[in-house]
Amino acid sequence: MELRGLLAVLDPTWVEHGHRVRHMAAELGKRLDLTESQLDRLEIAALLHDIGKSRLDPAVLALPRPLTTAEWEHVQEHPQIGFDLLTGNVHDDIAQAVLAHHERFDGSGYPHRLIGSDIPLAARILAVADAYDAITSDRVYDAARPASEAHAEITRGSGSQFDPMVVEAFNDVMASSLWAPTPSTRLSFGLAAR
Ligand SMILES: [Fe+2]
Repeated sequence: MELRGLLAVLDPTWVEHGHRVRHMAAELGKRLDLTESQLDRLEIAALLHDIGKSRLDPAVLALPRPLTTAEWEHVQEHPQIGFDLLTGNVHDDIAQAVLAHHERFDGSGYPHRLIGSDIPLAARILAVADAYDAITSDRVYDAARPASEAHAEITRGSGSQFDPMVVEAFNDVMASSLWAPTPSTRLSFGLAAR
């Protein structure tokens, strides 16, 4: 399937989330001295990171309450599903970044509990960009919170959820007078943070 076809299966609200994550991921990638081709792949991975959700039960994704264990396990399948959809269709770095976007720096993430630099750098960048957008946008189970709260929460997660090097780049973005977030859409787009 071509990239255009892959994007077409995504719910439009996830496409918006993907664009916002792409916007932040690109800022982080530039500060981390990624090459042009690495940046290109990072931005495509940002757009596609939740593509696996297209194969999940939409009713589960729309639940406005904490998930049961079974529901949570279902949602946690989306990185592997995304990887399976993308493998062979895009550069392997993109598929690997999608697979690892919910890994955590301390090894407590999913699906493979990778630790530290075993997690591809693009996925460590996506984790911060995804969290920022999840916190600052409305979701079915949580209202949007200000950028300052996202900043504090991501800083708190440095070294546990997030790579400290990426958090440092994120702090730099937040301190930049040139940084302008893409406008909040006020849309409920499901489980961006899950
Ligand atoms: Fe995700």
